[in-house]
Amino acid sequence: PSPRHLLSIADLTPAEFATLVRNASSHKQAIKSGAIPTSLIGSLSGKTVAMMFNKRSTRTRVSTEAATVQMGGHPMFLGKDDIQLGVNESVYDTSVVISSMVSCIVARVAKHSDVADLAKDSSVPVINALCDSYHPLQIIADFVTIYEAFTPKAHNVSSLGLEGLKIAWVGDANNVLFDLAIGATKMGVDMSVATPKGYEIPADMLKVIKSAGEGVPTPGKLTQTNVPEEAVKDADILVTDTWVSMGQEEESKKRMKAFSGFQITSDLATRGGAKEHWKFMHCLPRHPEEVSDEVFYSDRSLVFPEAENRLWAAISALEGFVVNKGKIVE
Ligand code: CP
Ligand code: NVA
Repeated sequence: PSPRHLLSIADLTPAEFATLVRNASSHKQAIKSGAIPTSLIGSLSGKTVAMMFNKRSTRTRVSTEAATVQMGGHPMFLGKDDIQLGVNESVYDTSVVISSMVSCIVARVAKHSDVADLAKDSSVPVINALCDSYHPLQIIADFVTIYEAFTPKAHNVSSLGLEGLKIAWVGDANNVLFDLAIGATKMGVDMSVATPKGYEIPADMLKVIKSAGEGVPTPGKLTQTNVPEEAVKDADILVTDTWVSMGQEEESKKRMKAFSGFQITSDLATRGGAKEHWKFMHCLPRHPEEVSDEVFYSDRSLVFPEAENRLWAAISALEGFVVNKGKIVE
């Protein structure tokens, strides 16, 4: 049977997504208090996790390698200059060959179709470590962060008890936003997105986000605007990301101009009427143009716990997709 892959939060039911988040958070608590869950000890013993990264990475690389080691496995980092992929060998051949020797492939590529093709022909689970459309490991960590920072309401297996929260995304409509919106839709968290004109969520992605709500009793609602103040109104969490994603470097000048006025500042939060307790999140790496220092380094900022939670998200995802072969259970 073909293995189960994690290419986007869209691949998960609400119950599975909530379980990955809860498992990440409970493993975090247990391991930090010195009690490593016995089910994790040596769970990747003798197993290799191949990490095919065609782009730079700090958090995804370090968290995946550290998670693999904590579970007794061996991470094998394959950067873009290390293997034949793309230059001298097809995705198909690479996928068949690497998957015949390892237990999991964690891949960071440019095009979503590259990671999807890799998964199609791989005999082991493929976990998307960021492509131009999705970033599922980031979004598991983001929901761990939200789950731990806000008091969840009573909930069932398919929910994290975060219904009714509102996330305002101010900045570029990119890979991180798309998967975040899919996760929010599934968890009943509302999102309002402010981008400059011409940088809105593409129509085909809006459809993907909308369909994430199918079968969810109260799916999160998504709204879009070109006015940052409108987006932050009544928001619990303000989020942004770089205005120039990896691969868009040539558009840098044009984007700086288009996004001027979209920097997240306390003044914007006040003017727009964010909730009094509003918090700030960012997947990192961060540049000063998208968020002021005064917000980024303030008590409202969750960015460093959010980054640490990448480790716990990686452990949870490796447990679910490699150790338990795609069966996501508590
Ligand atoms: N947030 C994130 O994915 O960071 P890296 O690009 O450093 O892995
Ligand atoms: N949107 C950013 C995220 C980096 C983690 C990028 O794709 O470069």
